[in-house]
Amino acid sequence: MPGRRGQQVYDWWSRHEGLLDRLYDLVFLGTQARLRARSVDALGLSAGDTALELGCGDGRSLHRLRTRVGPQGQVLAVDYSEGMVRRARERVREAGWENVHVLWGDAGRLPVDSPVDAVYASMAVSAMPDPATVAREARRLLRPGGRMAVLDARPFEEPWTALNRLVVPVSRLATDWNPEADVPGAMAATFDGVDLETHVWGTVFVASARASASADPEQRVIGQ
Ligand SMILES: C[S@@+](CC[C@H](N)C(=O)[O-])C[C@H]1O[C@@H](n2cnc3c(N)ncnc32)[C@H](O)[C@@H]1O
Repeated sequence: MPGRRGQQVYDWWSRHEGLLDRLYDLVFLGTQARLRARSVDALGLSAGDTALELGCGDGRSLHRLRTRVGPQGQVLAVDYSEGMVRRARERVREAGWENVHVLWGDAGRLPVDSPVDAVYASMAVSAMPDPATVAREARRLLRPGGRMAVLDARPFEEPWTALNRLVVPVSRLATDWNPEADVPGAMAATFDGVDLETHVWGTVFVASARASASADPEQRVIGQ
């Protein structure tokens, strides 16, 4: 399990959901609902599918995923903060969703072995220490043709980089954010290609990739 500090940071956020909403207001600048819906759409889910969410937090994306897979499908969600897992499970219980399961665990070493049709993460992979391992874990579980979609944030680019002097240290401290994380790059190294769209002056992005029909890249090499 990675750093205890990150878990403690998110245990704290799990008790301050309203404050997290305000932080997201600043990050998304009015685009949040649209980009969250857009990133889930990028998964191309159908009724009956199984979707896996990484770093599900308080479970705010679970309803979107569940709506796409329907009552015959399944949603699995993983988070390493006990506080966030508790809050997400409460949400599931209150909604009465029997086909949504929230698991405590590390996205870099997923507590899931059965194949899934889609892997989703919102505002989470850039808070994980090693996005490359996370992408490989996602690829390991994805069925051929399945998709990974990530909604996430990254530092300002030119001509706005001066803002990073404030944004980067504050976000790193407050959310255990890893601004050096190259999430699209990690996905590109694992999947055959990545579709990337950027928003909010390039600081928010949706990256999506499709698992090719052949086995994952490591297995392809071994099989040759
Ligand atoms: C900023 S929150 C985002 C939560 C939610 N996905 C959302 O859109 O609001 C990041 C989440 O990632 C989780 N997380 C960070 N590193 C993780 C890891 N290695 N394994 C599992 N969860 C992790 C944190 O506990 C936290 O709940």
